[in-house]
Amino acid sequence: MTAPYWNHNTHYHPVVLGAMPRGCREALDVGCGDGLLVRRLALRAAHVTGIDRSPEMVEQARAANRDLGNVDFVVADFLSYDLPPESLDFVCCVATLHHMDFADALTAMRDGLRPGGGLAVVGLANNAGLRDLMRSATGLPAHHAHRLRNRAIAGQPAHPVANPDMTWAEVRAEALRLLPGARFRRHTLWRYSLIWRKPR
Ligand SMILES: C[S@@+](CC[C@H](N)C(=O)[O-])C[C@H]1O[C@@H](n2cnc3c(N)ncnc32)[C@H](O)[C@@H]1O
Repeated sequence: MTAPYWNHNTHYHPVVLGAMPRGCREALDVGCGDGLLVRRLALRAAHVTGIDRSPEMVEQARAANRDLGNVDFVVADFLSYDLPPESLDFVCCVATLHHMDFADALTAMRDGLRPGGGLAVVGLANNAGLRDLMRSATGLPAHHAHRLRNRAIAGQPAHPVANPDMTWAEVRAEALRLLPGARFRRHTLWRYSLIWRKPR
């Protein structure tokens, strides 16, 4: 079992967990990395699948969660994964959407959800100008305060990383186009969240 650790991504796990629908049966974590979030989801869902295209990350995730009977891990590229339509109650994706084509990935997540199902994305984006830069700068004191408070459990898994190529405004506009009614929030620690419920 992986001991829980803190970083800018795990900091927003509560936002993801808070978006899970009640009575969640099937949940999917896209780009599950070492499986820490899958572990947390498994406390609230009947079954959770973690998908990641890195065989090394999936191996770690399986090893860390072998004590759980309601989780499965798949090595696959999410964009070519044969996700049955309307099969999920919840789909989430943390720090991974910018590794994929934004519209294709969000569309696949949306189509995989049952009516009434929930979607939660925590992601990264780029600054586009002075206003964005100033807003990002306000994250520095918060980063230091959180890091100090969590210094005993600060951790960064050795997972594949990529730089985001969309700006905060582009992410927001494209997300609202694909998921009308979604809630987009830009958070202090250089992440956004996108929460959506599929209409019944
Ligand atoms: C920055 S890590 C984030 C991992 C984890 N969600 C977390 O928050 O710690 C991005 C993960 O997405 C995975 N990934 C990138 N592109 C993917 C794709 N097309 N399909 C499945 N997984 C992908 C990478 O292998 C990596 O483990």
